[in-house]
Amino acid sequence: MAIAPVEAFKGVIGTSDASALLTLLLSLLGGFTAIGLAMSYSQLILDLFVLSGKNLKKYGAGKKSWAVITGASDGIGREFALQLAKAKFNIVLVSRTESKLHAVAEEIEGKFGVETKVLAMDFAKNEDKDYDRLQDLISTLDVGVLVNNVGQSHSIPVPFTLTPLQEMKNIININCHGTLRITQIVAPRMVERKNGLILTMGSFGGLLPTPLLATYSGSKAFLNYWNQSIAAELAPSGVDCYLIKSYLVTSAMSKIKRASMTIPSPKAFVATALGKIGLRGGAATPFTMTPYPAHAFMNWGLEWLQTATGAWGKKFVLEQNFDMHRAIRKRALKKAERDAKKHRTEWHTHVSISNAYKPKRKTKKKTIAIRSLAISPIDVRPHMTNFIHLYPNHLHLTIPHPTFSIAWINSIRVRQSNIYLPTRFTILCPGHFVIRSEEYNCVNCSYKAR
Ligand SMILES: NC(=O)c1ccc[n+]([C@@H]2O[C@H](COP(=O)([O-])OP(=O)(O)OC[C@H]3O[C@@H](n4cnc5c(N)ncnc54)[C@H](OP(=O)(O)O)[C@@H]3O)[C@@H](O)[C@H]2O)c1
Repeated sequence: MAIAPVEAFKGVIGTSDASALLTLLLSLLGGFTAIGLAMSYSQLILDLFVLSGKNLKKYGAGKKSWAVITGASDGIGREFALQLAKAKFNIVLVSRTESKLHAVAEEIEGKFGVETKVLAMDFAKNEDKDYDRLQDLISTLDVGVLVNNVGQSHSIPVPFTLTPLQEMKNIININCHGTLRITQIVAPRMVERKNGLILTMGSFGGLLPTPLLATYSGSKAFLNYWNQSIAAELAPSGVDCYLIKSYLVTSAMSKIKRASMTIPSPKAFVATALGKIGLRGGAATPFTMTPYPAHAFMNWGLEWLQTATGAWGKKFVLEQNFDMHRAIRKRALKKAERDAKKHRTEWHTHVSISNAYKPKRKTKKKTIAIRSLAISPIDVRPHMTNFIHLYPNHLHLTIPHPTFSIAWINSIRVRQSNIYLPTRFTILCPGHFVIRSEEYNCVNCSYKAR
């Protein structure tokens, strides 16, 4: 008969020896954990409050080198542009709105006396020609720094199954494709000059799986692994790559206006980040920085909690995060409803229905009060319904507030006495729906859908 290994072990060294050995093993394990914890905590304190990061002169500050910043017209990106210009880099500003880019460029030239170049492109479109334009723009420049800052999150926390297709595509195109493609243009030039710095904006959404922000969370987690991989590849060529992990910062994206101890302004956040290049702060992964003190402590605590408690701790954190975002969604929906009451008629949507509905007589315009308007997945409450204008071959629908379009509307059914319009709509941009595969020009703006 086979003897159980524990019994055999006891047989060899005796019962009291076995329990002494077990105690020793547990003490060693506890000791190593305590030493690891103490070392990591000391490193955290040193990184945050004692040590300075790499000097920006290493990458060409003050030597007519250039810094390329994406998403540079607002928020964190704008601050990177201003503060790198202050450190005497010339600046290439890349983002969507040309007028905002020129305003930042003017401010930079006026304040810091460095050169600027701007490139307006929409990362959501992921068009080759835009990346070719960027390649041409920097072809003669000595680029020492790239800040992959551009990013988009969900307009409000939303279950994955209800996430509008366009929002999903935009997040992936902007956060992932945009970062990869720009880096592929800039990094080889840094390898040639054997020196460079690539900073990529990560997020706590990439540190923790975040229910109701699933696509954003996944996109930032993707950047986390991608950055560590390219950082290892590029380090021998003298190019430093760091992912900057951040909890909330006041900005248009976070929709938070007032700074606090845990939520800094972009100015404070970027000043800390640029002073701590290369230091991990609260991050437990290589080539990753959590420079802002409050964020660093949160990051450090969360990573230790999860390491110490394994799958159980991870599940606990996941559930807490889910609860937090459930609450945020609830508040966002309530706010949207309040706003809807305030701004009932401020927003118009142009919907082509030429195949779905044709009026019998060619009326120029007909206005009908909607009795019921169901906007999937929610029903529009009576106070939100408004007017529908029927033209010979299109319908002009007035919906109370754009928030409803961005986050919620997947399909619309309009019912008014004998008019029944089963239609599916694609959301192209806030305020615009089209029935798939139809062409139209929006009457409210220059948007042309194909
Ligand atoms: N704020 C936070 O709480 C927070 C937390 C963690 C991580 N982050 C990350 O930090 C980065 C910056 O966030 P932020 O809060 O500073 O954002 P923000 O204030 O909303 O600014 C976003 C910038 O990106 C540009 N942009 C947006 N969509 C674009 C597109 N399709 N094509 C080209 N440019 C586009 C905007 O240009 P326009 O001005 O022309 O729209 C703007 O310059 C993001 O990667 C974000 O994920 C932010």
